[in-house]
Amino acid sequence: MGGAVRAHNGGMKTVPSKGAPIRKEIDQYKQGLTTTQASFIEDAQKNGQLYIYQPYDLYSEENHTAWKKLFARMEPRWKRYANEHFLKGIASLCLDPERVPRLEDVNEFLCPLTGFQAKAVSGYVPAFQFFDCLRNRAFPTTITIRSSDRLDYLPEPDIFHDIAGHVPMHTDKAFADTLVRFGDCAHTAAEIVKGIKNHEEQLRRLTSIVRAMARFFWFTIEFGLMKGKDGMKVYGSGLLSSFGEIAHCIESDQVQRYPIQLEWVINQSFEIDHYQPLLFYVESFDHLFSLVDTLESWMREGKLDNVAPGEPGINEEDIESFLV
Ligand SMILES: [Fe+2]
Repeated sequence: MGGAVRAHNGGMKTVPSKGAPIRKEIDQYKQGLTTTQASFIEDAQKNGQLYIYQPYDLYSEENHTAWKKLFARMEPRWKRYANEHFLKGIASLCLDPERVPRLEDVNEFLCPLTGFQAKAVSGYVPAFQFFDCLRNRAFPTTITIRSSDRLDYLPEPDIFHDIAGHVPMHTDKAFADTLVRFGDCAHTAAEIVKGIKNHEEQLRRLTSIVRAMARFFWFTIEFGLMKGKDGMKVYGSGLLSSFGEIAHCIESDQVQRYPIQLEWVINQSFEIDHYQPLLFYVESFDHLFSLVDTLESWMREGKLDNVAPGEPGINEEDIESFLV
């Protein structure tokens, strides 16, 4: 969602899938699935293929080294800062610390727990489709990985962010159910705006509703904190996949941490290119689930129709995805 719903999304654009590339053509691709340098991904995007398969043999040794380095340096920080549901979740996925994960292996462990699965995509997923995937318990997953010599530079999601940051959370039932409720909200939004006759008013209200959803997603699923018996812990995937920010968000006196308030979050702009100075904490995932319920009620009551302007920008493709 234009850098909004999915952390670090570079705004890559794709059009709806026309099917996956043919496996026998794999030999034509250069080795390596490095972010912004993978010809397999470029071709999929050019051909309008959003949902793809993971051509595992294309990962280079350098790609595996990047995974290994990322995993090794995050592990002690997860133990210190991550919430217990994440720690339990990542253990249950049995990820190999040395090699980029195969999505089918991840799904074998994940699916029996909550019905969720990781689904390979070639790039940016328009907002409605993204939420609709969540509703169907599929998580659009990037298969490229950042370069091993630029571990901190992340202009867009990569497989480390998606599999090590997001997917462990999907093993938790209450969290998984919350993501499904986000998907329900997107359907509610589409239903509401399709009933508006005036096209300009339709676009204006939809932009405001999508902005509210994007902000809520950002301050919870991507950058959420949880305050429980063990003190303040991290559950947001943008934090769980960032070596620097996972410590900064808990330790720094330059971060404001407040109990989450829905009316604040939906009106609060954010920037994606620096550490977050303002974060919100929930008490539990049941608490988070109840907030998504309230978000949907507010949407029906028209309370999301006029949220404060500002970031994130909502692009045309995201808006159109709700009107198809
Ligand atoms: Fe993300």
